[in-house]
Amino acid sequence: MAADIVQEVKLRTDLVELISAYVPLRRAGRTHKGLCPFHSEKSPSFVVDGERGFFKCYGCGKGGDCFTFIQEKEGLSFPEAGELLARRLGLEWVRQGETSERRGDRERLHDVCALATRFFRQCLERDAAALEYLEHRGIAADTLEQFQLGYAPPTYEALLRWLRTQGVALEDAEAADLVLRSESGLRDRFVARIIFPIFDIEGRPIAFGGRTMRPDGIPKYLNSKETAIFTKGRTLYGLHAARPSITAAGHAVVVEGYMDLIALHQAGVAESVATLGTALTEQHIALIKRFTQDLVLCFDGDSAGIRAAERSAPMFEQAGCTVRVVSLPGGADPDTFIRNHGLEAFRAAVTRAEPLIDFLIRAARGRHHTQTSEGRLAFVREATRLVAQSSSHLTRQEHTTRLERVIGGLADEWYPGDPRSALQARDALIQEVRRLLHSGGPRSTFQHSFQETRKEFRERPSNWLGQSAPSRVRYSGVRSAPMLVNAGTRFGAERYVLRAALSEPEWAARLASAATRDHFSDPALQVLAAAFFEDPGEGSAASERAARILRDPAMAEQVSAVLMVDAPLSEEGFERCLTALDRDWKQRRLAALQARSVSEGLGEREAIEIRELLSELGGRQRRED
Ligand code: UTP
Ligand code: MN
Repeated sequence: MAADIVQEVKLRTDLVELISAYVPLRRAGRTHKGLCPFHSEKSPSFVVDGERGFFKCYGCGKGGDCFTFIQEKEGLSFPEAGELLARRLGLEWVRQGETSERRGDRERLHDVCALATRFFRQCLERDAAALEYLEHRGIAADTLEQFQLGYAPPTYEALLRWLRTQGVALEDAEAADLVLRSESGLRDRFVARIIFPIFDIEGRPIAFGGRTMRPDGIPKYLNSKETAIFTKGRTLYGLHAARPSITAAGHAVVVEGYMDLIALHQAGVAESVATLGTALTEQHIALIKRFTQDLVLCFDGDSAGIRAAERSAPMFEQAGCTVRVVSLPGGADPDTFIRNHGLEAFRAAVTRAEPLIDFLIRAARGRHHTQTSEGRLAFVREATRLVAQSSSHLTRQEHTTRLERVIGGLADEWYPGDPRSALQARDALIQEVRRLLHSGGPRSTFQHSFQETRKEFRERPSNWLGQSAPSRVRYSGVRSAPMLVNAGTRFGAERYVLRAALSEPEWAARLASAATRDHFSDPALQVLAAAFFEDPGEGSAASERAARILRDPAMAEQVSAVLMVDAPLSEEGFERCLTALDRDWKQRRLAALQARSVSEGLGEREAIEIRELLSELGGRQRRED
């Protein structure tokens, strides 16, 4: 990009005037002051230096020039902000690596699309049948206006002729994919269809979708091909209208269809955007992420979007997005649902949206006949694969916990009135989950370094696929971050036995047979414990695993932190700590079950387990934490 255009836009933009459109400013000496538009405050700490072209908030620290301001405020990229500012000044913004000529081409496509939108709208106003169709579909007059819906008349040259009268070069119309060239000459692309203009983030029409009005019309929708100004994978229908609402709501609702989006906006769910029938792409995510990281997917039950959600899961995680899924009853699409049940019901469904991982586990369950043991195993294997997808150690652990809960619940269903068999089935399947998760692979916990884990703890909550529910995971071996601070004496025993196991092969073997990885609740020991208890190969001895941990450079820091204590180890101390470990684990399990019994009621299986735990703890139960 020509640096001079950047300079020129900067020089010629009156920053005070620009910012005044967003927040009232008053003069304060050489500068201007006002309430910061980026954070909420009562006394003004936002300063605009119009002469130098800078703004700065002394409250939240945001600052920059006219480009930064527009980027932040409007959620635009730098070139988009540049274009917007240049247009205000009547200047031409040329993108990096773009010739002025190409830039002109794109501008002309924008013009053709704007003209065509106007034409289609006029045609709609004159066509009673088209108007009736839209009315029948429940679209109100001001919604037609807002989304600039139109109609392409049932002849092959309506738009073509009109564009000619407007002096438009038909090559431009062709480049905008509004006009097709065939052997018999040029013709309109859209014929006898309801027209949905597709807008860019600033609300300029860049492409079109045309819906047939016939119930059996094929294809149902005809869409513009990609052009110099339209890329399907980078465009979200309705985003221009949804931007402020997404920011206000703190999440975006993602639907698939034109009609879904329009119905939601009309009903008041203005934070929705639509993907135009494709799966969400990385570019879509990047676009939404300018406004929120919290996505609520609301797709038809059997849609491509749902099938893609599974493959997209790692992409969401990579982007740091929290994704929840709304399942509308009876597989209704959002448009039908909100028309039949109203806004409140839709809002309630959004509130009930489940974290993506739960949704995916449930979907996996639906694909298998869990009435047979083969089916159960197949389901558990598939679900474990979903859990293992995450590249984050902590997230994987959280998701494992969720899966284990699902398995527990299912076991109860499989063996109604037979809690012992249910418990057995549950344990066997959970064993399988752990075996699969810990059987190596590039993402095995074994290779997860201590530093990474510590980093994850610090950066929480950035888990993918759903909001964390800290109270649920407390007992499961994954401790929420505050536990790092609250580490009590219990961790002393955990540290002691690990130190012993890393010091003496004999102790390693005994620890492996007396405890499981769940006995370790100290977050600082998680990685070592995981590495110690996972069995990377058939029959690898505990002492071998201990030896490998000692050699593993990735674990060096954590190993030395454990071995650094040089108080002598003793047989008696080892035994005492093992006992303490077991008791602590049982107490945690008991506390968790009891907490669950308060919040969710008590199943028979839980009741049995509680009774067993109480008797094993021999009434010597003390309060946890
Ligand atoms: P749907 O079939 O769910 O359409 O496809 P819809 O939006 O609910 O439309 P109505 O309610 O039947 O009028 C979802 C989206 O997939 C794309 C469109 O973007 C559509 O909105 N699609 C669908 C096409 O591009 N072509 C098609 O033939 C069908
Ligand atoms: Mn529909």
